[in-house]
Amino acid sequence: MTISYFRTAQTLITGRDSISKIGEEAKKLESKKAMIITDKVIQQTGLLSRVISSLEEIDLAVDTMDEVMPEPPFENLEQMMIQLEEKEYDLLIGVGGGSVLDATKVLSIMLTNQENVRDLVGIEKVQNAGIPTILVPTTAGTGSEVTYNAIFTDVRDKVKKGIVSPYLLPKVAIVDPSLTLTVPPSVTAATGMDALVHAVESYTAIRAGELTDGIALQAIKLISRSLRKAVYNGKDVQAREDMAMGSLLAGISLGNAGVGAVHALAYPLGGKFKVPHGVANSLLLPFVMKYNVVTDLEKFAEVAKALGENIEGLSLREAANCTVYALTQLAQDIEIPSSLKDVGVTAEDIPNLAEEASKIDRLLNNNPRWLTVKEIEKIYEEAYRADTR
Ligand SMILES: [Fe+2]
Repeated sequence: MTISYFRTAQTLITGRDSISKIGEEAKKLESKKAMIITDKVIQQTGLLSRVISSLEEIDLAVDTMDEVMPEPPFENLEQMMIQLEEKEYDLLIGVGGGSVLDATKVLSIMLTNQENVRDLVGIEKVQNAGIPTILVPTTAGTGSEVTYNAIFTDVRDKVKKGIVSPYLLPKVAIVDPSLTLTVPPSVTAATGMDALVHAVESYTAIRAGELTDGIALQAIKLISRSLRKAVYNGKDVQAREDMAMGSLLAGISLGNAGVGAVHALAYPLGGKFKVPHGVANSLLLPFVMKYNVVTDLEKFAEVAKALGENIEGLSLREAANCTVYALTQLAQDIEIPSSLKDVGVTAEDIPNLAEEASKIDRLLNNNPRWLTVKEIEKIYEEAYRADTR
């Protein structure tokens, strides 16, 4: 048995209307002055009033900064730091999707580490713990509230870069499905598929283990049974609850077992073509899985079962292959683009995309099957033709 670590948020609070507990949690952290970090979209939804009213009950001085940009560039973080440094905040509260939560996590360590944020890129480059954070996801997808990495856009190189440090984990994560009821169908679809990719990739990853396998399978079950419902009837509370819990479980599994080639191949699409993270992952998922399936037929058969496929009477190989079919069908049903052509990629772009993806060792080393640049190119070509045969 190899040595492994299992890390997650210090306290996890889940359930409908759990956001009402945020004041109590801020009090336990002995906060005197907090900053809510969010974006303009969340600011307009009115969701923040529920956060602020709970914080006001404990007489906490609270400001709001709604400047986080989608898939934030490093410059965005640097600009927000100027405002944070003016006043001495002792708690950062991130309320939003993955971009907001990632930004909150990194701003907390920027406040206690002198280095330029670009020098913190990479694995465990952060020296000092950050100021405490409470993270509140408003989409069911990224799992950022329980992972210790954060992804940003390097505008100069047009690539995504990650900061990985246990200091990015929050003191408290509050996962309240009632905050996701108004998320529009296209965002529900893309973020939901991102969560499903986290579960499937972490379950089949090199670093997968006993501590994460059951969590990942449960995430696959919850997401596959409820994603279609959440997309087509956003007010379906049970479906939103399943998605919130599925996304959280997938995030816990991803945070500890990591993800693999789907994410590695998706990142260049985000950096160069601005394809939303969940859409890029969803697009590539069946094609990478088709390639990975032979590495562990039993595990992939388990994935097919968790996805709701009837595998009775099938050979192990047939059952494992059902994974590819089920994932393709799900993405089609919720109308996520199914070909790289649909997101503006041309055949000529593929060699460059493959070159970029091949550099992401952190993820490729965790994929159950090694991929050469040529093989990555082949997967992109299949995703370009949308050919899962
Ligand atoms: Fe992801």
